[in-house]
Amino acid sequence: MENNIQEFKPPLKEEKGITNSGNVKVADSIAVFAPATVANVVCGFDVLGFAVNEPGDEVIMRITNKPGITISKITGDDGRLPLNPAKNTVSVSVQHYLQSINRTDIGLDIELHKKMPIGSGLGSSSASTVAGLFAIKTLMDDNSDPAKLLPFAMKGEEMACGHGHADNVAPALFGGFVLIRSYSPLDVVRLPHPPGLYCAIIFPDVDVPTREARQIIRNKILMKDAVTQWGNIAGLVSGLFMQDIDLIGRSMQDVLVEPVRSMLIPDFYPMREMAMELGAVSFGISGSGPSVFAFTRDEETATLIIQKLQQHLTNININSKTYVSTINDAGPRVIG
Ligand code: HSE
Repeated sequence: MENNIQEFKPPLKEEKGITNSGNVKVADSIAVFAPATVANVVCGFDVLGFAVNEPGDEVIMRITNKPGITISKITGDDGRLPLNPAKNTVSVSVQHYLQSINRTDIGLDIELHKKMPIGSGLGSSSASTVAGLFAIKTLMDDNSDPAKLLPFAMKGEEMACGHGHADNVAPALFGGFVLIRSYSPLDVVRLPHPPGLYCAIIFPDVDVPTREARQIIRNKILMKDAVTQWGNIAGLVSGLFMQDIDLIGRSMQDVLVEPVRSMLIPDFYPMREMAMELGAVSFGISGSGPSVFAFTRDEETATLIIQKLQQHLTNININSKTYVSTINDAGPRVIG
């Protein structure tokens, strides 16, 4: 069966001497930003995700004379990511893309600037991979639908955590809210969302590798839990279409994954109680954690929630980073 990926509008290229092909030379270097993402959105394990405005990662890519890919610099990773292009998710996914267009002859140098924590549950590897893929597609003057990059980005996820899920890479690539209706064949649907929905994100600085957070999930579930879960997913998607924030809030309940993964997050339930008391619409784990997020109806409530939760984490001796954002509908963008 054919993959069915809805046609997406490519994000605008900012003016930077990048011109279309023919006899005109295209740019030989580019800088791209790609956003962090919140996967699962509480009830939609592996099938729902959305992009935020910040944080995100930056990739600078240059065409060189020597065939093959090199990674000359990685910043912001505390030395945790490999410079070896055969082991880095950005270069590996870019290489898959180059193979698909028969351009493995070209030389590329990549700089990766991590502007977000690794292993945070905010789609760190996805942001890097999508920035790299969007950069090479633009450098190659490839005007085809960005959706064709998705399978290459999923290869990067597979390498990063052992499973090629798309609920981070798809929203990082397309922006907005995305549903992975099916993985085989791949069927991705972009969803609307109500205007003015804010997302408060708190990253407690504890280590929760996605690979391990996936291993602890039960692989058999009870029918009664499945019924609850698919009711909630349908309710959340309906709420997004109907712009019904109350319906969105009461649908964001997870009886399958959160009860297990919440154990990896310090004071998950007290934090949820605090956020809900402060006026959150909903609260849950971002991706595989340890980041948590709340939806709110306004920026003030989101700001209050991150302040109070950060204070709570400080009181129990846990450092944290916080972000407040609307939903990012643009996805990756050229920044230089
Ligand atoms: N859906 C994936 C998971 C997202 O929950 O494992 C990982 O960020």
